[in-house]
Amino acid sequence: MRLPEEIVTPRLLLRRPRAGDGAMINQAVHESFAELSPWMQWATTLPTTEQSEAFARDGAVRYNNGSSAELLILHRETGSFVGATGMPRIDWDLPGFEIGYWCRTGETGKGYVSESTWWLAKALFALGAKRVEIRVDDLNRRSWRVAERLGFTFTTLQKGDLIANDGSLRDTRVYVALSLAQLKQPSP
Ligand SMILES: CC(C)(COP(=O)(O)OP(=O)(O)OC[C@H]1O[C@@H](n2cnc3c(N)ncnc32)[C@H](O)[C@@H]1OP(=O)(O)O)[C@@H](O)C(=O)NCCC(=O)NCCS
Repeated sequence: MRLPEEIVTPRLLLRRPRAGDGAMINQAVHESFAELSPWMQWATTLPTTEQSEAFARDGAVRYNNGSSAELLILHRETGSFVGATGMPRIDWDLPGFEIGYWCRTGETGKGYVSESTWWLAKALFALGAKRVEIRVDDLNRRSWRVAERLGFTFTTLQKGDLIANDGSLRDTRVYVALSLAQLKQPSP
């Protein structure tokens, strides 16, 4: 089973990061940092361009060893950077995948993440996934609205299983889809 390296959606291109993407990613992280840091565990300090470039370059390594996989979300027509998605946790035995995502602040509110998530779930089910999961901090309403908009089933609230970047203990909402038929394709 090969993970998708590129997915084309009505408005977007999802593709694996590669060498040379660092500056573009870095600019978006800097622009969006205030919105990312409450929710993304990696968003504790502003990355340097070199660190973003290392993340992009090493994407191929993570992809090839199957531990996790990231996909950049780009505008299909212009190639400009919208955000990032991917599979931060993979259970190859099931197989099951967690989908994660973040959106550049100036690109939120346009349905891009709902679109990328549905198309990524579609690609994973087509590859044989038995389970696709989205895990969200209970306080991150905007994020769990993405899961609910698409028809993922809310299964559990895992009490106190996450320490946020501000040091507070949080609860995680777990959303699951067991087939593509369960999900609603968002209209672009
Ligand atoms: C969570 C996050 C990705 C949500 O972004 P978002 O822009 O709300 O999500 P989408 O791109 O799917 O857009 C949905 C919004 O666009 C609107 N929209 C406009 N056109 C749309 C379309 N064609 N399809 C769907 N929604 C559309 C929706 O109404 C919705 O707005 P609403 O929530 O005010 O009703 C974003 O807030 C973010 O990156 N946050 C910081 C990082 C983070 O929390 N990541 C998730 C960790 S679990």
